[in-house]
Amino acid sequence: MSDIKKGLAGVVADETAISKVNPETNSLLYRGYPVQELAATQSFEAVAYLLWNGELPTETELAAFRATERAHRALTPALKEAIDALPLDAHPMDEVRTAVSVIGAIETAGSGNVLDAVGTPEQNLERSLKLFAALPAIVSYGQRRRRGLEAVESRDDLDYAANFLWLTFGEEAAPVVVDAFNRSMILYAEHSFNASTFTARVITSTLSDLYSAVVGAIGALKGPLHGGANEAVMHIFDEIGSADQVVGWLDAALAEKRKIMGFGHRVYKRGDSRVPTMKAALDTLVAHYDRPDVAELYDTLESEFVSRKGIYPNLDYPSGPAYNLIGYDTLTFTPLFIAARITGWTAHILEQQASNALIRPLSAYSGVDERHIDGYVADAATVEALEREEEAAG
Ligand code: COA
Repeated sequence: MSDIKKGLAGVVADETAISKVNPETNSLLYRGYPVQELAATQSFEAVAYLLWNGELPTETELAAFRATERAHRALTPALKEAIDALPLDAHPMDEVRTAVSVIGAIETAGSGNVLDAVGTPEQNLERSLKLFAALPAIVSYGQRRRRGLEAVESRDDLDYAANFLWLTFGEEAAPVVVDAFNRSMILYAEHSFNASTFTARVITSTLSDLYSAVVGAIGALKGPLHGGANEAVMHIFDEIGSADQVVGWLDAALAEKRKIMGFGHRVYKRGDSRVPTMKAALDTLVAHYDRPDVAELYDTLESEFVSRKGIYPNLDYPSGPAYNLIGYDTLTFTPLFIAARITGWTAHILEQQASNALIRPLSAYSGVDERHIDGYVADAATVEALEREEEAAG
């Protein structure tokens, strides 16, 4: 059928006031602000506030927001126990998905019926902030336990990004590292109706609760065509090894028709607006850690692939090696994306709740024609009901 929009490509499913992606001008705006300006000037806390409330916070508002965020950073015993019950080799995305599910079950316990669990807009804003505050400890503990390390207590004197790194590595990160990490969080925070955000909106549209929507979004983000790409980029870097291997590796990969992770985008066809900012952050890390080999591999693969296919890098391309240099395990990359995107997801959940319509598309049937079970005879009541229906339908 000609009107099927496979993959919903090009379909405008609803309005949003949260962000604007403009592939023509290669720009991304959060509540009207270009994302690169936000990344250069704001803390991730201020950007979270902006996404949820529509305006950047005043100093007083930011101080109050930070105080609430700091009050909800702890890895609670119930949460730690739930994570510890999972196998050490469970995928970290499954670990975070489970942790959010546990938080949801605890936070909505006793709500009586499903409608009560949905909560008020105020409750959902508070739930969003609490999830945002809790995720760094969950993600960090995941990496630490896989390395055989104990959880670290959060530090109330550190901002979100610095505390996140402290929680993961148990030492204070250098300002240049905190800055690069903060920028990556801001760049990953929001991107309109991408697959995971749309998943969250679909789940919200059934009047399910915020936690169920976030759990579903995490499932969508896990796939390598979406969030899992930053992890996949690092596997590619590991496979290639060094810049002088790029050409041979790419020849073989393209001959096998492999997708090169970290390149291409459903919306941006001439470059991802977030890449230059993240690449600049990566460059600062390359200098800080004195790893010119990483920059060399990055640049060589990019120029070879772009010149052969005309397909440009997306945000996952610079963020993968950046997280690697900071010391994150490859498997932790996509959970970092969750910690950032929780802001965008929940902003969309709140927006969907405020102006809801059940999301339920149609499908074109392509299966076998109608057929019947041999020997089936409808009972009298069914025949009567069918006749009534036919009559009513005229
Ligand atoms: N490597 C190799 N070829 C690619 C490619 C990549 N990363 N991205 C797109 N292409 C090619 C496709 O093979 C296809 O070629 P064809 O027309 O000869 O079949 C063409 O470009 C169109 O790609 P398509 O997958 O149909 O575009 P899309 O808009 O559906 O896909 C992505 C967008 C993101 C799914 C796709 O670019 C991709 O798989 N990228 C790698 C994963 C990734 O980095 N994801 C993170 C996204 S932020």
